[in-house]
Amino acid sequence: MEIIREISLLRARVKEARSQGKLVGLVPTMGCLHQGHLALLDKAKAENGLTILSIFVNPIQFGVGEDYEEYPRHLESDATQVEKAGGQIIFAPTVKEMYPQGYATYIDVERLTAGLCGASRPHHFRGVTTVVAKLFNIATPDNAYFGQKDAQQALVIQRMTKDLNMNVLVHIMPTVREADGLAMSSRNSYLSLAERKAALILSQTLKQVAEKIRGGERDASAIQAFIVEKISLEPLATIDYAAVVDTEEIRPLKEISGRTLIALAVRFGKTRLIDNIILEV
Ligand code: PAF
Repeated sequence: MEIIREISLLRARVKEARSQGKLVGLVPTMGCLHQGHLALLDKAKAENGLTILSIFVNPIQFGVGEDYEEYPRHLESDATQVEKAGGQIIFAPTVKEMYPQGYATYIDVERLTAGLCGASRPHHFRGVTTVVAKLFNIATPDNAYFGQKDAQQALVIQRMTKDLNMNVLVHIMPTVREADGLAMSSRNSYLSLAERKAALILSQTLKQVAEKIRGGERDASAIQAFIVEKISLEPLATIDYAAVVDTEEIRPLKEISGRTLIALAVRFGKTRLIDNIILEV
């Protein structure tokens, strides 16, 4: 397993793999790896001859006052995990390598980024799409792998890839959960014991929402009201949003029909967690 920090060296490795007829898979991450990331890595390994896992805490997707400085950075233990999982390359560029002096180019996906996380994190998705486009240009993957936990991010990246005719197949993999239902996230490490317990309200609420919809509930505002009522009962939780939207334009639904995303963002102390389900109705 090799840790590569320079774009030129990664390009050389990709060129060599391609000359051997290998497919290239990319798993973009910000590190602090957990089972969710390792599931993406496993899938990438199964489908590609060369698998690259990138680790880059991308400054331009964090807003002022957000957790860029505190974001957990554990390259050594991440590398041990990737090596154990049979990963071949970690691409861990510096900020200077990715955004050298004079950098001025950004990618904006419109509409889909206006609501949900985009409403409370206005420049977040511009930072995500810009860095993902750069990683796609650098690694030129045939396949790229992202988690469903970041549902809006997944839809925005799929839109960008389609709109800009990017030659990469984007795979969205199911959310990996702890045994008690909490969606795995690098930010779970910020939670106190009490907050960790309180955060179970997310998966529990989504499970009940799925049951209600499968039971015939189609009124989106009734579902939203149910979510707000249920989460408000948890004293450590503060709702950022509870959304019932379509998966094409991420627009609020009145009546639930078709492919529906039910997405939550909730704060527990200083930690903002997201979770979601997608139902085919
Ligand atoms: O989901 C993440 O970890 C990040 O947003 C990503 C896709 C690696 C871009 O920095």
